Amino acid sequence: MENLLRDIGILDSDTKADVCETYTVSKDQNTGKARKLYIESYGCQMNFSDSEIVASILSKEGFDTTSDINAADVVFLNTCSIREKAEQTVRNRLTHINNLKRHKPEMLVGVLGCMAERLKSRLLEEEKIVDLVAGPDAYRDLPKLINQVDEGDKAVNTFLSREETYADISPVRLNSNGVTAFISIMRGCDNMCSFCVVPFTRGRERSRDPHSIVSEAKDLFGRGYREVTLLGQNVDSYKWSEVQNNKAWIEKNGIQDVVNFAELLRRVAGVSPDLRVRFSTSHPKDITDEVLFVMKEHENICKNIHLPMQSGSSRILELMNRGYSREWYLNKAKRIREVLGEDCGLSSDMIAGFCTETEEEHRETLSVMDAVQYDFAYMFYYSERPGTLAEKKYKDDVSLEIKKRRLDEIISKQRAHSFLRNQHDVGKTYKVLIEGNSKRSPKDLQGRTSSNKVVVFPAAGHQKGQYVNVLVTDCSGGTLIGKVV
Ligand code: SAH
Ligand code: SF4
Ligand code: F3S
Repeated sequence: MENLLRDIGILDSDTKADVCETYTVSKDQNTGKARKLYIESYGCQMNFSDSEIVASILSKEGFDTTSDINAADVVFLNTCSIREKAEQTVRNRLTHINNLKRHKPEMLVGVLGCMAERLKSRLLEEEKIVDLVAGPDAYRDLPKLINQVDEGDKAVNTFLSREETYADISPVRLNSNGVTAFISIMRGCDNMCSFCVVPFTRGRERSRDPHSIVSEAKDLFGRGYREVTLLGQNVDSYKWSEVQNNKAWIEKNGIQDVVNFAELLRRVAGVSPDLRVRFSTSHPKDITDEVLFVMKEHENICKNIHLPMQSGSSRILELMNRGYSREWYLNKAKRIREVLGEDCGLSSDMIAGFCTETEEEHRETLSVMDAVQYDFAYMFYYSERPGTLAEKKYKDDVSLEIKKRRLDEIISKQRAHSFLRNQHDVGKTYKVLIEGNSKRSPKDLQGRTSSNKVVVFPAAGHQKGQYVNVLVTDCSGGTLIGKVV
């Protein structure tokens, strides 16, 4: 997400308090198809990646994507439910689209993604302009659902699957710079963190066939892409068996040929030494030494780990059902830097003001930040979500005022740390993959280091998609500045 938001210019500061209030829009595709599809995507990378699956499914049905909502026959909002604000943003957007629809009643309006899954057919009643509702596992059904609307009915499919991974669908890259791309490796989540709506909106965890993942990476490399990010809510629990569900085979042979995340990383890294591999998100309770050593062995696996802490208090982590303690987390962070070195990028997610959090426990979050010194973080205040364990079991008893003040303290600390971590890079030379022109000057290029830091430098005849060695000469809190050496 971070990369994507940077690519499209939404995120260029060192910290971001809430990424879900931003969105991306489908690009213009002009292959001469008769109908136009406009998709706005909210939320996490998984959603952005799903929009590319949706565009692919509908391209076979005679749709080109457009970036102009006024030109669209079909308008989809691919939505997020993670915090109340994320849903409110979508509702506001629907009110705006309602005005457009008054002038163009034939325009089909659909809600996809997590909010569709959470609210189901209620969305048709609550938001009267919505014609179609499809949950994250129902996208293959979209052609049928659109037909249903064309014939004058409303259409809903929010069935959650235990198998769907869209493994065979080749995504249409919607917001691509032609250099970096996302590959979904799994769907759903089985973790049940008490604050989180994802297990309810995305269903059970399932992993995608590794052969299809490797062939997608190969295909991207062949088309000039130089970096892939493997996506899942908890990539460390990726698991795929060659004989999945084949009990007879397992009984006969006594073993299963299981591909875990470390093995998947090895396979994707083997596509080419010139293809960089990133991944997100790691869960502190599940990331293994094996993964760290595979990262160490492969130069092209980027040295950056997104390891959401959520809270620095063991009591709060227990209430959150995160499955680790403060000490466990600190040990993991230490182990990562032991194996991968001090330059390894570490980033986090933090929630301020979870149910019953005391001032002392909030300070424990700040002290973990001091101990780890993250390069980057996404920071939020707690937002109670209907149906979650926390909503059922605990009282949302920290006032909004206190939540916001605690969040501010977390954000200021992170700003200071991002700046410190960037200053630490000044005077060093890093291999950078060029992603395109800098947003500030067409004479400058920008790319990222292995540790996921953005570097801006004079173009000097270089081009996107190339690797260059850049000497870092200066920095701000969000960006390194340098020159090719
Ligand atoms: N699977 C990832 C996170 C997915 S959601 C993981 O386990 O780390 C992204 C982030 O949103 C979470 O890490 C958490 O920090 C935040 N988040 C989730 N639910 C929230 C809620 N109810 N209120 C505030 N922040 C929340
Ligand atoms: Fe939500 Fe926890 Fe799953 Fe992440 S691991 S998606 S926070 S339930
Ligand atoms: Fe939001 Fe759904 Fe992702 S709730 S964060 S879009 S999985």
